[in-house]
Amino acid sequence: MTCRLSVLAGAGVIFALACATGNAADTKQAALAAKGKAVFDENCVACHQPDAVGLPGTAPSLRAKELLRYGSDRFFTQTITDGRPDTPMPSFADVLKPADIKAVIAYLRSLAKEPSQGNDIDKERPSAGDVALGKDRFAQICASCHGENGEGYEAEGSGTAIGKAGFLSKASDGFIRGTIREGRSNTPMHGFIGASALANLSYQEIDAIVAYLRSRQGQ
Ligand code: HEC
Ligand code: HEC
Repeated sequence: MTCRLSVLAGAGVIFALACATGNAADTKQAALAAKGKAVFDENCVACHQPDAVGLPGTAPSLRAKELLRYGSDRFFTQTITDGRPDTPMPSFADVLKPADIKAVIAYLRSLAKEPSQGNDIDKERPSAGDVALGKDRFAQICASCHGENGEGYEAEGSGTAIGKAGFLSKASDGFIRGTIREGRSNTPMHGFIGASALANLSYQEIDAIVAYLRSRQGQ
């Protein structure tokens, strides 16, 4: 195939991939991702930082492999469209067209080395944990970074507002469980499974924490 450098200049890695496989669908996806990078650099970079690496206390990383693995297209589309009320994450409903939102998600996806499991994760069973146990574990382990009520940065920690409806109305139970198990690479959010974890939680305790967060939804 002919590699059309002029069209995709500035999207070197993406271009190289599409060029190497020579697949028309990949080339289209690479063009969409290049458009999405431009949307990102104009609308998101001030908070989420160049290359979407994030800055704890300002905005989370959007390139952590666990976020891209567990986050479905639905999760990303709804989060970007509606924003997270009562946090600095604005709604882009009146700013970006649906096609721009699709492009910016394609850009974020292009930063991942593995395919997303988000659509399947969203269909996983809901958590049916012990709310009182979850409340206890949350207070002991999570509150120091996420705030006593999961209020996020306004509590002056590094963690996001996981107790607020903006997050809870978009994130599935599977997404939350996976995030607690594995954390987020290159951020202060470490995984909570295994001997080297800050706290080695059981699956039962993780389910309990999700049930506790759900019990707070809408507060
Ligand atoms: C004014 C700062 C700001 C801007 C601009 C901004 N964000 Fe955010 N974004 C945030 C903050 C802060 C959060 C976390 C909010 C919380 O505490 O839950 C966030 C969260 C997110 C999340 C959820 C991430 C996760 O870990 O679950 C996504 C996705 C996201 N933003 C995408 C975008 C995109 C795409 C743009 C540009 C179109 C954008 N944001 C622009 C501040 C911003
Ligand atoms: C050392 C600080 C720290 C601790 C302790 C911590 N977190 Fe986090 N957590 C973070 C940070 C920071 C992020 C966002 C990552 C980023 O900035 O890119 C995060 C992200 C998350 C997310 C994803 C939120 C989103 O916006 O998508 C969930 C869910 C989460 N944490 C749950 C927990 C739970 C449950 C606990 C307790 C078992 C916990 N965290 C303990 C710092 C922490």
